[in-house]
Amino acid sequence: MKSDPAMRPLETSDAAIHADRLDRLTEKGLRAAAVADNGIDWDTRIKKPAWLRMQYVRTAISQLYFGELATITMCERLLRELDDGNAIRFVRTQIADEQRHVRYYERYLARAGGIEDICDGVAMAYEGALAWRGSYHGAIVAFHIVLEGEGLRLQQLYGDWFPCPLYKQINTLIARDEGRHVAFGKIFLRRQLQALPLEERIAIYQWVRALWFDCAGPIQADMPGIVFRAVGRRWAENRWRRQREALIDIGLIHPHETAQFDRC
Ligand SMILES: [Fe+2]
Ligand SMILES: [Fe+2]
Repeated sequence: MKSDPAMRPLETSDAAIHADRLDRLTEKGLRAAAVADNGIDWDTRIKKPAWLRMQYVRTAISQLYFGELATITMCERLLRELDDGNAIRFVRTQIADEQRHVRYYERYLARAGGIEDICDGVAMAYEGALAWRGSYHGAIVAFHIVLEGEGLRLQQLYGDWFPCPLYKQINTLIARDEGRHVAFGKIFLRRQLQALPLEERIAIYQWVRALWFDCAGPIQADMPGIVFRAVGRRWAENRWRRQREALIDIGLIHPHETAQFDRC
C-alpha cells in the first residue's frame, strides 16, 4: 500500500523535492545538449569594433577557455567524491557541457588567430581552487558559485563590449549552460551546507575569500586600461560584496558571522 505523502516524515519529502530539482536540471541539460550544436552558424564572420585590438579579444576569450578546462578537472574529481546519485548525474551532464564549451572556444579562437596564454591572476585562481583538499563542498563553492558566477558575468560583459555576431551565438548557448551549473551549485549546497560543521563552513569561507583577494590584484594588473577604468579601482571589493551575498544565500556564512570573519 502506498503511503500518504502528507504522512511521510518531513526529511524524506525534503530529500525527494531536492532530488527532483536536481533531476529536472539534469534533464534540462540533456535537452539543451541535444540541440546545442544547431545554435551556431560557423559561417558567421567575426567582427570587432575598430578600437579593439584582436589580441585583446583573443586574450579575454582564452581566459574563459582555460576556465572551462579547469572546471572539467574539478567536475571529474567531484564524480569520484560525491555520494549523491542525483548530483553525480548532473555533474556528468556538466562535464559534457564544459567539453562542448571548450570546442566552441577553440574553434572561435582558431578563427581569431589562436589561443593566447593564460594570465597570471587567472592561473592563480584556477590553480588555487583546484588545490583545495577539504570536502567537495569547498570545490563546489569555489567553482559553481564564485568562479562560474563571475565567469558568467564576464562573458556577458564581453558580449556588451564586443558585439561580434559569432561570439554572441556562442555566448548565448554557453551562458544558458553556465546558468544551469550555478543553479546546481546553489540547490545542492543550500541543502548540504545545513549539515556541515561550523568550523568547516568558516574554513571554506575564509579560504575562498583569501583566494579571491590574492588573485584580484594580478587580474586587475593584466586588465587593459579601458577595462580597468570600466570596472573601477575598487572592482575586487565591490564584486566581493556580491559574491558574499551569494555565499550568505546558500548558507555558507551567516550575515552576523561575516563581520567577524571578514577581518581575519
Ligand atoms: Fe562552461
Ligand atoms: Fe560551467
